[in-house]
Amino acid sequence: MVTAPSDRGQWTSRTGFILAAAGSAIGLGNIWRFPYVVGQNGGAAFVLLYFGFVILIGVPYMFAELALGRAAQKNPVGAVQAVRPNSPWRLVGLLGVITGVGILSFYGVIAGWTFGYIFKMAAGRVGDFGAFIASPWPVLGLFALFMFLTASIVHGGIQGGIERWSKILMPILFLLLVALVVYANSLSGASKGLSFYLHPDFSKITGRVALAALGQAFFSLSLGMGLMITYGSYVGKTEDLVASGISVGFFDTMIAFLAGLIIFPALFAMGQDPAAGPALVFAVLPELFTRMPGGLLVGTLFFILLSVAALTSTISLLEVETAYVVDEHGVDRKKVVWGAALFTFVVGIPSALSQGASDFFSDFGWLPARLSDPDFLSHMSFIWGDFSLAFGALMLSIFVGWVWGANKAADEIEQGSSFFAQTRGIWVFMIRFFIPVVIFVILLNLFGVFD
Ligand code: PHE
Repeated sequence: MVTAPSDRGQWTSRTGFILAAAGSAIGLGNIWRFPYVVGQNGGAAFVLLYFGFVILIGVPYMFAELALGRAAQKNPVGAVQAVRPNSPWRLVGLLGVITGVGILSFYGVIAGWTFGYIFKMAAGRVGDFGAFIASPWPVLGLFALFMFLTASIVHGGIQGGIERWSKILMPILFLLLVALVVYANSLSGASKGLSFYLHPDFSKITGRVALAALGQAFFSLSLGMGLMITYGSYVGKTEDLVASGISVGFFDTMIAFLAGLIIFPALFAMGQDPAAGPALVFAVLPELFTRMPGGLLVGTLFFILLSVAALTSTISLLEVETAYVVDEHGVDRKKVVWGAALFTFVVGIPSALSQGASDFFSDFGWLPARLSDPDFLSHMSFIWGDFSLAFGALMLSIFVGWVWGANKAADEIEQGSSFFAQTRGIWVFMIRFFIPVVIFVILLNLFGVFD
């Protein structure tokens, strides 16, 4: 994947693109973030809302980003510029790039924890999770290591290594999740968890819950910051964007759903708190593994696979920053990659120290408690992972629907997708009206406009 302006390169094949897009989508968002936001937002009602947003907003919106990227052959800023040069709209592209930095800065920290658990599991010494994430040096070291791995892959190009490995490892992750679902649901007390996860109580839905579900849908599908613009820019004209988008959405949602089917039964069986926040999965799963026969081996394998899933997401995040600087400022790709990784690492240091290592960052409560937990990492997750993605998607759907023009976008999507021609009118309505209006209402609600 070379992105020199004269020779930007393309995915080697259709599966190469779907794998890369699914690799970006499937990651810690499915297995770490999804269960913890479900737990914090009251369970099944949130899950239903989330599914609705994925189907009605996320996937149709994904076509818009892919179409814009493929038509413009550029990073988010360049793509906006190609349609409407030197207009304020380019700030929307820029916000996407900045959001990518913000997300990667805390995502890399969690990826570091995941990586650390490979060794903890293999050594059979799981220890206390709270003490682990409060210890500054191991956490920073693992975060740095993960950013280093990410940069090395983005630097070397992703086609050879990561695409080939993902093809083998992601199906194994899937099978392992299915096996864990069976095991977790056999524990006594598991059914209470299942009902929390699957039996909706609609009185739990508030404005904040709706935004959390929408934000999680965008986060999990890697939407709202121009990632799919960037990946779309490497797609050939004969690819079927609709079929690709639907399969990415389907697999992504499946993996998240399975993760919940493991976590909630296990959690209730162990008598833990579903609203534990970012620590949730790390508090539940290692304990599950220590109870299982052969669990240390299974646990080691699980954290290896989860690290790979995280890596295919972190490389996509770093790729956005990189493509932006390379395309717009003409700097050498190899230099940009390392600079961007180092910069993002520095931005992530407060998040790394916010789980007990530094009192200042661990209790950084400058956002109202109804919006976010007081630690710095939760703030970052809310600001970039929920708010900014929803806002970015609002702006980009207006941009595609009205400024570039929904019909031009639809023409682009129709190339390669015969199926799309029949549903084109519905899509045009969605991108121009339905999607921006729903996002707008949810954002307004967040500021208490309807209270
Ligand atoms: N979708 C990724 C995940 O669920 C995270 C991500 C968000 C990646 C935005 C790229 C862009 O883990």
